[in-house]
Amino acid sequence: MHKGYQLILGIETSCDDTAAALVWDGKELSSSVHSQLVHSPYGGVVPELASREHIAKILPVVRNTLEQGKVELKQLGGVAVTAGPGLPGSILIGLSFAKALAYSLDIPIIGVNHLEGHLFGAFAGEEPPVPFIGLVVSGGHSHIYLSETPGRYSLLGRTRDDAAGECFDKIARFMGFPYPGGPEIEKLAAEGNPNAIKLPVAMKNDDSLDMSFSGIKTAALIKLKKNKEKQQNNDDKHSRSFYADLAYALQKAVVDTVVLKIRRAIEKTGVKRVVAGGGVVANSYLRERLTSLAEGGMDVRLAPARLASDNGVVTALAGEYRLKQGERSDWSLTALSRMPLEESGG
Ligand code: KG4
Ligand code: ZN
Repeated sequence: MHKGYQLILGIETSCDDTAAALVWDGKELSSSVHSQLVHSPYGGVVPELASREHIAKILPVVRNTLEQGKVELKQLGGVAVTAGPGLPGSILIGLSFAKALAYSLDIPIIGVNHLEGHLFGAFAGEEPPVPFIGLVVSGGHSHIYLSETPGRYSLLGRTRDDAAGECFDKIARFMGFPYPGGPEIEKLAAEGNPNAIKLPVAMKNDDSLDMSFSGIKTAALIKLKKNKEKQQNNDDKHSRSFYADLAYALQKAVVDTVVLKIRRAIEKTGVKRVVAGGGVVANSYLRERLTSLAEGGMDVRLAPARLASDNGVVTALAGEYRLKQGERSDWSLTALSRMPLEESGG
């Protein structure tokens, strides 16, 4: 291996995935993700259960990552670990594990902002392609940033209530589907009739780049409740087709909201590049709509679907970049439930 580069182990435990990965010079060597199923019956992530599952899985996940990459511990040059934002009890598991590893191997550790990790998923191993408009849409975030200098971000807009993914998760839960609901909504939407149901696009006439998804969610919930009342003798076939029509309308309203605000961000900043990551970027309709911005001359870079949802690769890539800049965290590094990207150093 080239001497100038170090092997970086990334560890991510900010929510309900126990994940690790190895990267070297922007390239993924191996990756392992354990997605926790314990939350399925609850319709959302139960923090206490998530922490318990992380502690049971962190060692096998890291071991598997090293084995897949044919790497021994002594070859590691640094450890990158999600420090926030997320569930503090969950982050602490990955963080304590990462600290113990880095300390015992006498190698640097770097705390990674999970939101920056999501953006690195779209950089394809390259340096941050500034200037760009950065979109993070996940289960906890719907944020639009402007980055003009690598590693620095200003916030252009954010959701004022629910996150885009949260909106999918809540409606899917009401339909009786397990958490996470986004993939299920996408599947259902593919069977839906585009003209059957319309849901309002939120904050259309608001000049800010903020978004809102709770109105869409409430409108969808009302339609669901009305449909339930109508169908006392519920026949499954009918309700599947109603769910499909509603999923189509929900997906369209959420994606329309995001795309509208991204278009407005482009107009406001004059920046010709859009970069997007986070679990909702796995959604094919959102991908299609964002990709079509390229027809207007935009450079559109989306995290590939497998790197859009939580994983260790993007943590390792963001950490590798910051380590290369000479940044290090010290042993006081701790978990932060709130960690605004616009306040990150660099
Ligand atoms: O980034 P992520 O894995 O975790 C967080 O940081 O939150 O994002 C998870 C979110 C969930 O809300 C999930 O329903 C949503 O991403 N999601 C999707 C799809 N795949 C995951 N939403 C819509 N369509 C999908 N295909
Ligand atoms: Zn995430």
